[in-house]
Amino acid sequence: MGKIVVIGSINVDISTELNDLPQIGETIKGSNVSISPGGKGANQAVAAAKLGGDVMMVGMIGEDAFGADALANLNSHCIDVTNVWTASETTGLAMILRENGDNRIIVASGANNAWPVDLPLETIIANASILLLQNEIPFVVTEKAVNIANLYNVPILFDPAPVDHFPLSFLRKITYLTPNETEFKQLPEDLLQAETKAVLVTQAKHGVEIHDETGITHVPAFPVDTVDSTGAGDTFNGAFAVALASGKNVQGAVTFANQAAALSTTKIGAQKGMPKLNEIKD
Ligand code: RIB
Repeated sequence: MGKIVVIGSINVDISTELNDLPQIGETIKGSNVSISPGGKGANQAVAAAKLGGDVMMVGMIGEDAFGADALANLNSHCIDVTNVWTASETTGLAMILRENGDNRIIVASGANNAWPVDLPLETIIANASILLLQNEIPFVVTEKAVNIANLYNVPILFDPAPVDHFPLSFLRKITYLTPNETEFKQLPEDLLQAETKAVLVTQAKHGVEIHDETGITHVPAFPVDTVDSTGAGDTFNGAFAVALASGKNVQGAVTFANQAAALSTTKIGAQKGMPKLNEIKD
């Protein structure tokens, strides 16, 4: 299996369970606090590594204890962190409000916005088996990475979250696009052109719709008792990359990724419930 390269965000997630949202000026009580590693990029990297992928993480951390913890966490999953860099900013911070398994997230980018201009992206991407991207770092870095990947025929998996007004010319360079239902509605129509092989619309407990040149195929989700859906989409992306890199076709890879994503929601924290290969087999 070739190297899975993830370029993206690294955060610390601080989350709490709520029954209601506070009004302006109001203080309400949360419960079940969790402080855990997150960031869509780091989550994808950890999901892929836990499933046996050979993973490199490319990202930015701050000069603080959260950054050191994030780096130690990536290391603990045997992820190549040669290209995790430090900026004189705070480490990215996500404030997460959980409500009956669902979540609302506010991300303060911090170091995720402080990418140096001279990163050796070409060397990093040229030999990758697949490149994973999301939208929590400056778009200019993502765009540059996409252009390099196209140059070296490296397939690209792009999760357009948080969603933005992406140019159609950019989206058409993506091999696999993985919006959720809400994001999908905000993307331009006619995505399936040029390099794009498939658009995989993730629909939480309703599964995934594969839109490709054969039409639309629905792959059902696996029923589980969800306690926290944070990071389920990231798990889907990481697992999909591992499955593709190990030779599965798109539908087989989606089925595998659905299993991983479902299991990831059974524990609190984005990365805690991400399964290992034997847990999926079980
Ligand atoms: O997708 C979930 C992730 O989004 C969280 O881990 C949080 O850090 C935000 O980036």
